[in-house]
Amino acid sequence: MPRTLWDSSVGKKTVMAVSGVIMLLYLVAHMIGNLKIYFGADEFNRYGHWLRTVGEPFMHYEWTLWLIRVVLVVAVVAHAVSAYQLSRRDIRARPNKYVHKKPRASYATRTMRWGGIILGLFIVWHVLDLTTGTVHSGGFQEGHPYQNVVDTFSTWYGNVIYIVAMLAVGLHIRHGFWSAAQTLGVGGRTRDRVLKTVANALALLLTAGFIAVPVGVMTGVVS
Ligand code: HEM
Repeated sequence: MPRTLWDSSVGKKTVMAVSGVIMLLYLVAHMIGNLKIYFGADEFNRYGHWLRTVGEPFMHYEWTLWLIRVVLVVAVVAHAVSAYQLSRRDIRARPNKYVHKKPRASYATRTMRWGGIILGLFIVWHVLDLTTGTVHSGGFQEGHPYQNVVDTFSTWYGNVIYIVAMLAVGLHIRHGFWSAAQTLGVGGRTRDRVLKTVANALALLLTAGFIAVPVGVMTGVVS
């Protein structure tokens, strides 16, 4: 991207929108994939195995998975760096320093900022929990994601961490989707209303779909 575009606010917002859409597509696929847990251990574990062999024989074992990981890491970093720089720019752009105390950022800005930080921390926890097993509660078994997921949601803190994160995901997407649509120049009053409805529906569907997994384990439907 030309330097001047990256230096502009619109450029940074575009980076946020595009990286956000990439992560959103990943989340939709991940949520749908997770729901396969309701079809039993065999099917879910087979799906986990497929994630590592997809693209074969052209791709080597885990190459596609690593490609996705690299794209996601680039998207997360680009998203976080532009968010940070945009918020610094916001502060610098104020004409004078506030004499008393700083006024609070708007509700949406605060939710996005804190939601983003919570999600960043959650992703680190989540990878250490279900991919590497480093902080996993039971005896982590490589190649048996079904049992690992059941273990995670058999502890109270596992449920709390994931459910709080899922609610943060919903709020973040609700506002983020809407902002992205504005940055990318979709406009008009009717279209705005449609976009807001789409943003709400998407956020609700994703949150409910993700939360269905811990709920399944807590109620004993998945065990
Ligand atoms: C109830 C909710 C969730 C469950 C049960 C869940 C489950 C899992 C499982 C089992 C894996 C490992 C798959 C494998 O190695 O075969 C995984 C990987 C992953 N999850 Fe989730 N997930 C949930 C929510 C989320 C959310 C909300 C995000 C992002 C904000 C997320 C991001 C990821 C990422 C990036 C990986 C890939 C890690 C890697 O292999 O490099 N997950 N998830």
